[in-house]
Order: sequence, then structure tokens, then C-alpha cells
Amino acid sequence: MANYTATNNTQNSTIRSFRAVVFAALIALLFNLTSCNPKADAISPETETIVASSLRAVASSDSSNTLKGVASFPIGAAINPQLLASNALYKSALVKNYNSISTENCAKMNRLQPKAGQFNWTDTDALVNFARQNNMKVHGHTLIWHVAVPTWVTNFQGDSLAWEKLMKTHIQTVVGHYKGSIKSWDVVNEAFEADGSLRKSIWYQHLGADYIARCFQYAHEADPQALLFYNDNNSVYQTKKSDAVYAMLKNLKQRNIPINGVGLQMHITVNTSESILTNVIRQYASTGLLIHISELDIRMNYSLSTTFVLTDAVKNAHASKYKAIAKIYKGVVAKAQQFGITNWNLGDSDSWLLTESKSEDHPLLFDENYNRKLSFYGFMQGLTE
Ligand code: GLA
Repeated sequence: MANYTATNNTQNSTIRSFRAVVFAALIALLFNLTSCNPKADAISPETETIVASSLRAVASSDSSNTLKGVASFPIGAAINPQLLASNALYKSALVKNYNSISTENCAKMNRLQPKAGQFNWTDTDALVNFARQNNMKVHGHTLIWHVAVPTWVTNFQGDSLAWEKLMKTHIQTVVGHYKGSIKSWDVVNEAFEADGSLRKSIWYQHLGADYIARCFQYAHEADPQALLFYNDNNSVYQTKKSDAVYAMLKNLKQRNIPINGVGLQMHITVNTSESILTNVIRQYASTGLLIHISELDIRMNYSLSTTFVLTDAVKNAHASKYKAIAKIYKGVVAKAQQFGITNWNLGDSDSWLLTESKSEDHPLLFDENYNRKLSFYGFMQGLTE
């Protein structure tokens, strides 16, 4: 009897836990269905919610697939040479999925020329060598910017001729050193303010508005084969800025300044409007220049909330946005202008956004252990379709 009761109790508890599992599954399903309602989680109305299970199905049937394997244009990642040298998982995620490396920070002016006339090539050389061994290309970022200016430049005293020489020497030494191995460059980064005016950077102040055109000429003289880009951020939300950048690009082309492409950084959020994004990419593509989505990452926690919760709805929205970017790029940019899409680093914990905002976020395609996230498959699906 005692035994019978014990068995009966075990059966009852098995039935109870089975019921609990079914109940939980139904709740989860209901949750996923309600998460399709954009109002429920303040995701932009255009967001096409991806059902996680369909993406996971792609994942398991196609586990040998890689981003570069499915893409019809180069897929890049901004790479930190220290992580590359020290972390085998980082290296393997890179080599499997990418065929282009952007120099995340190591080719900025403060790193390459920390003291006047003293160039430090070590980190960028390491990326270039790694890329050569692994059959990848390298995109150099960035020659002239208002950030990452070394102190010796900030303190530099001289007339406009001396400033011109300083700028020209930096550009030509760097582009010359990597002639033939870094085949494309962000020549000028972020020269505009949000209101469309030219940023009053140290370069602008000493050299006037046309310093931008001269940067391209100097870079071209140093390596006539290199593809030269203007790169800027946030153009996707700021019409005045994107109109100003567009006008400058047209002006440079009309004057036969050697510019080959434009980089849209694409630091966006799950809430960024896809229609605005489509419009700005279409506008830039109408210049005929190469189009590079150059620094793609997508914030989940766009309000920088301290109580952010990583729900399935947010993961879906994130994967959908990655998918949308790939589809918009393929749909709007003519094949001959598709320079590629570059992710701004690999694993979530490597992202600049975490150090920048100090709020929780998961902006990239790999988690902190370099496992592929749902968003990886969203992006892959967008590249494939
Ligand atoms: C800009 C720059 C990048 C990087 C990011 C994040 O987008 O172009 O080099 O510094 O900011 O910090």
C-alpha cells in the first residue's frame, strides 16, 4: 500500500510537471504572439517580427553556413588586435564569418603617430599580416578625424602652411606605408555637425572648409589604387546632416576629387526607422559612389534604461533589424556599388557601446562567448534572401 501510494504520488507529480511544462509552453507561445504587436514593446511599427523558431530552424539545417558564405558582397568586422592575438574564440568567429577587417582603433591618428614623426605600426601591421594569411581585405579607419587627435597635434603651433604639411605628412606616410595592403581608407570621418554645418574641428579651424577635398587628393597621391571613402555617423536620423553630406559628395565628384565611396556608420537601435534608413541609403547611392555600411551595431536598450530586461520580443526585434539592414542594402544599392557591410566588432562584450553608456546592451551578432545569437541568423537570413 505504502509502495502503491508512493508510485501513485510519483505518477501524480510527473503528470503535474508535464502539465506545468505544457502550460509554460502555452504562455511562452502567447507571449511571442503578443510580442508581434508593436505597441506592446515600443518597437518601431515597421519591424517585421521574426519568429525565433523559424530562425533556429535555418540555424540547424545550415550550421555550416557563414556570413561570408551566404553574402554576395564583403562582410567585415572592426577588429581589436589585442583580442585577436589573445582569444581563440574571437579569432575563429572572425575567420569563419568575415572576409574583411576594419581597423577598429589602431589606425587612428593618436595610435599611429603618438609623437610627431614617430609612427607606431605594430598593431595595424598585425591586422594586415593576419588578413593576408587568411585571405581577407583590410579597410583602414581613419586618416583625419576630430577625435583621437594626439596631444602634440592639439598643441601644435604653426601657420596654415605648417598645419597643411602636418596633415599631408600624416596621410601620405600612413597610406604610403600600407600601399597595396590596405586597399581602402576612411579618409575623413565625421566632418559634419547634426545641423548640417561643417564641424569646427581643429582641421577646419586651421585649414578651412576645403581641407576635406585636399585630404582625398593627398591620399590618392600616396596610393592611386586605394579606394577612398568619406565616413559619417547618425546620418540616418538627421536629415539636415545627410543632405549636407550628400551635397558635399556631389560637389567632390563634380570637381573630380578622388573619392570612391561613402561610409554610413549605422550605429542604430532596434527602434530606428527603416524607411528613413532606406531613404538615406538611396540618396547616397544616387551619387554613384560605393556604399559601405561601415560600423554596424544595433542597440537593444535604446533608452539606456537601468531596468532593461532582455525579453524574447527584444531579441526578435534585434534579429529583425539586422535582417532588415541586409535586405535594404541589397534592395537599394546597385550591385556594382555594394562595397560591403561591416560589423563594429564581434562579441557583445567587445562593443564600444557598453563602455560608452554603462547600461546593459547586447548590440552585436555574437554573445560574450562568441556563440552565434538569434541576430546572427536574422542577419544571415537577410543576406541570403
Ligand atoms: C565612431 C568612429 C569609430 C568608433 C565609434 C565608436 O563611429 O568612427 O571609430 O570610435 O565612433 O566609438
